Amino acid sequence: MFSSLSKIHNPLLRSITAASTSLAIATLIAAVAIGLTNPKDKSANKIGVYASLLAFIAGAGIGLVVKDKSESSVSQEKKKSPSNDTQKDTQNDTWQDWRNFKIVKKESESKEITSFYFQPVDGGELPDFKPGQFLTIKLEIPEQQRPVIRTYSLSDYPQSRDYYRLSIKREGSPKDLDVPPGVASNFMHDRISEGSIIPCKPPSGKFYIDVNSSVPAVLISNGVGITPMISMAKASSRLNLKRHIWFVHGARNGEYHACREEINAIAKSYPNLHIHYRYSRPGVQDAGKYHSQGYADKQLLEDIIIPEIRETHNGSTNAEYFLCGSPSFMDSLQQGLDELNVPEENVFFESFGGGKTKGKPKAGSDNQGTVDSAEVVFAKSDKTVTWTPEDGTLLEFAEANALNPDYSCRQGICMTCMCQLEEGEVEYIESPASEPDEGSVLICISKPKTAKVVLDL
Ligand SMILES: Cc1cc2nc3c(=O)[nH]c(=O)nc-3n(C[C@H](O)[C@H](O)[C@H](O)COP(=O)(O)OP(=O)(O)OC[C@H]3O[C@@H](n4cnc5c(N)ncnc54)[C@H](O)[C@@H]3O)c2cc1C
Ligand code: FES
Repeated sequence: MFSSLSKIHNPLLRSITAASTSLAIATLIAAVAIGLTNPKDKSANKIGVYASLLAFIAGAGIGLVVKDKSESSVSQEKKKSPSNDTQKDTQNDTWQDWRNFKIVKKESESKEITSFYFQPVDGGELPDFKPGQFLTIKLEIPEQQRPVIRTYSLSDYPQSRDYYRLSIKREGSPKDLDVPPGVASNFMHDRISEGSIIPCKPPSGKFYIDVNSSVPAVLISNGVGITPMISMAKASSRLNLKRHIWFVHGARNGEYHACREEINAIAKSYPNLHIHYRYSRPGVQDAGKYHSQGYADKQLLEDIIIPEIRETHNGSTNAEYFLCGSPSFMDSLQQGLDELNVPEENVFFESFGGGKTKGKPKAGSDNQGTVDSAEVVFAKSDKTVTWTPEDGTLLEFAEANALNPDYSCRQGICMTCMCQLEEGEVEYIESPASEPDEGSVLICISKPKTAKVVLDL
């Protein structure tokens, strides 16, 4: 009875229910007792009435004393979770695989880039993420034989934390090649709308800024490489206003420059955010909206940004550099920073694919692996097959053997293909963009190095 009462939220209703129930039970017991003894005895009848009244009063009191279950469980939950962050960590632990998200808003940011706002269909919490990390999405595209998996940087750092935002560039066909345009990005632009459902994996990635650091940071991007930088700048504006950040972005002109007003708005309440926009082909309508003409390159750093760092930091030019953009931009800037004697450990980059920076060729690798053949065991699939160098990477080999491992970039950048190595060793054709988890390997850029390799696939 107590547990049923505790489910009633209104105390008056709880009291009346308890009183009525007690009255009914007491009256029933008294009636049975009188009936079994002497039904004509008036004093026995009186005792029965008094007992019922007493039970009614006692029931009303019990109804008031019993606590509402929902109230007590909420307060217990609050005690267990001292901060919102703790709750988010818990959620992060529970969301490991695909989770359905609904597109709640779609917004054009530039001629080529559109933002998509994602909210979980289950209405649950969203785990916190590190500014710079990406989300992995899965698209069911009717023309494709299997789901298309892609990774996109989180392009916002919302205070409310009730949505994730991705900003996606429509990828056309390369000018010199007769090939179809980008599969996922065009599908997102043309066929995903508000209300569409897209499964996502939790935020991940090792390209992020430590918001608590006080070292000056230069966020330098071009094109769609701006996406992780927006999240980094926003997080710093919210969590570490003292830190000096240079937000340097290169675009063709204003038409191709995504989220310009959003960054300008952040700078209004964050004086230590120094903005520099550089347009390669500005139009007349861009007058007053950019800072210099040319490319975001080593020269810009040398002529403008580094002197500004020196001036604001008593002659010191020590800074961290975060790079994201087109392959040619990344290659030339990495080389430029090297020439400017910026220590390698101060340079962080994310490649969206297609360039050399994604993984430098591994020293000493002849790209052939170090064995002529290997026994590869796909443990989960219970398959043992013989690999030879002609079979290519372990991902290609798995696919050739009718396995369907997840992948996205196929270039050692996104970690989608990361797989547990249970036995043996692998040889990387090129260095992964960031280290995979301990005991795991990226099968898209690796081949067997030992005569036997066992993968958790
Ligand atoms: C960590 C990470 C974060 C990222 N963040 C973002 C982001 O924030 N925003 C964003 O827009 N992108 C981002 N990307 C890139 C994104 O994941 C996709 O790679 C991108 O959208 C292209 O995917 P797609 O399916 O549209 O193109 P794909 O179908 O993969 O094609 C890519 C290109 O190859 C061309 N192509 C097709 N066939 C051939 C062929 N046979 N030979 C040569 N070329 C061919 C296509 O025309 C297209 O130009 C990120 C990537 C990574 C790894
Ligand atoms: S598929 Fe992206 S790292 Fe292998």
